[in-house]
Amino acid sequence: MENGAAPTVPAVIVAIDGPSGTGKSSTSKAVAAQLGLSYLDTGAQYRAITWWMVTNGIDIDDPHAVAAAAGKAEIVSGTDPAGPTITVDGVDVAGPIRTQEVTSKVSTVSAVPEVRSRITELQRSIAAAAPQGIVVEGRDIGTTVLPDADLKIFLTASAEARAARRNGELKGADVNATREALIKRDAADSSRKTSPLAKADDAVEVDTTDLTLPQVIECVVTLVEEKRAGK
Ligand code: DC
Repeated sequence: MENGAAPTVPAVIVAIDGPSGTGKSSTSKAVAAQLGLSYLDTGAQYRAITWWMVTNGIDIDDPHAVAAAAGKAEIVSGTDPAGPTITVDGVDVAGPIRTQEVTSKVSTVSAVPEVRSRITELQRSIAAAAPQGIVVEGRDIGTTVLPDADLKIFLTASAEARAARRNGELKGADVNATREALIKRDAADSSRKTSPLAKADDAVEVDTTDLTLPQVIECVVTLVEEKRAGK
């Protein structure tokens, strides 16, 4: 190195996909924080556009109405893994996007191709602007949004484990109802025509059913470090 400058590490793009309740968000945030990378929760963006549709009285069961409104909301994602943020037209929607109403409607809104192309474009521009690289979590990141990602991870877990984890987050919820809702949302997300939830051919699958969160984080950090070392 000339002038004693620190060696620069090339930016790394990590795609983490999988169904709900596999530990995607907790893992992605922790991996990004540990490695000094940015972090993007793409589910939050689909939730944000769904919140906007509901708030503005768009009939979400009418795909033409949803398509016509797809470009209207201004969605801004803050990518610091220590405190990710999301605003719509300048309004902080971090709380409202997690309501049952938004959760039950997000699969319908996110199946509309105009919504997907709009949000995909936004995701690509955020990833391209991340100085050290980024961990992007979602359902179609490795297959569609960032097919050239340096590393692709696909997290899985049994439906029982996923429902139990979600119930831990939603205090007092009925575990059977949570399990049914998760299965229904996964089926909708996996069967839609445009960029469904799917494992990319070159993704590393990690089954988290019997792993603790620290174990999953360590596994992914090791995979990123190996990639960076060119192994
Ligand atoms: O990760 P999450 O549960 O917050 O995601 C909410 C919904 O957003 C999910 O049911 C499907 C949709 N989604 C998507 O279609 N594509 C992504 N890349 C991320 C989420």
